[in-house]
Amino acid sequence: MSTSSTRIIPNVSDTPRHVAIIMDGNGRWATKRLLPRTAGHARGVQAVRRVVEACARQGVEYLTLFAFSSENWRRPQQEVSLLMRLFVQALEKEVDKLIKQGVRLRVVGDLGAFDEHLRDLIRAAEARTVHNTTLTLTIAANYGGRWDVLQAMQKMLRAHPELATAPGDIDETLLDPYLAMAYAPEPELFIRTGGEQRISNFLIWQLAYTELYFTDCFWPDFNAKELDRAFAWYRSRERRFGRTSAQLTEQE
Ligand code: IPE
Ligand code: IPE
Ligand code: MG
Repeated sequence: MSTSSTRIIPNVSDTPRHVAIIMDGNGRWATKRLLPRTAGHARGVQAVRRVVEACARQGVEYLTLFAFSSENWRRPQQEVSLLMRLFVQALEKEVDKLIKQGVRLRVVGDLGAFDEHLRDLIRAAEARTVHNTTLTLTIAANYGGRWDVLQAMQKMLRAHPELATAPGDIDETLLDPYLAMAYAPEPELFIRTGGEQRISNFLIWQLAYTELYFTDCFWPDFNAKELDRAFAWYRSRERRFGRTSAQLTEQE
């Protein structure tokens, strides 16, 4: 699905079709309560449930959650193992509920780094939810924006070897279909919880014209009300895509 914001001016609707979230602040949420960081990750799973439900209710079509970055392997081994266990548990326990809610699950990232059992669970969950149409929930796991652009470039060149000797012919339309989330439009709204104002190697290509919303709320505290706040802020933005404000007024 090509909805490139740099090639065409996208339609602007009141509710974003695609929301992408960096779920940050689990560790600090726990530390503030004198709990181990891992307790924050466990509570973070509850916030995921709330936000999936709220997005489905609001008519969001695509929700993308950054669960584990390609740089998160640098964390202590114990924390990485706990995050993997939570991922396995969620895949084992939550898929029935996702089916009831009409949620299609996709997992994007360099999945080769995960163990066989986790990869099997991912494949099975994707297959079981493939026909659902209410909301597409994408979990970015061992995902990195730079990895995505590079893997897309490699796949494109494998499919079109002639481009290697004609690099000037490469344009967005040729690369787009090989990006990990080629099935989704570009996100209209990006949310990062936890107070940091950075992209941390999330969807660097796809966020070119996305509205960026940052909140101090830690991820385990995020809920439908916080999401409404982000949507209200989104509605207040003037999305110009390179044009002037006056041009937008003329159009109305
Ligand atoms: C986000 O919360 C979850 C993951 C990166 C897996 P953090 O664990 O980064 O929480 P803080 O930023 O340390 O508070
Ligand atoms: C980004 O959060 C990754 C996820 C939420 C999965 P981090 O907590 O890892 O980001 P940095 O290290 O603060 O940039
Ligand atoms: Mg963090």
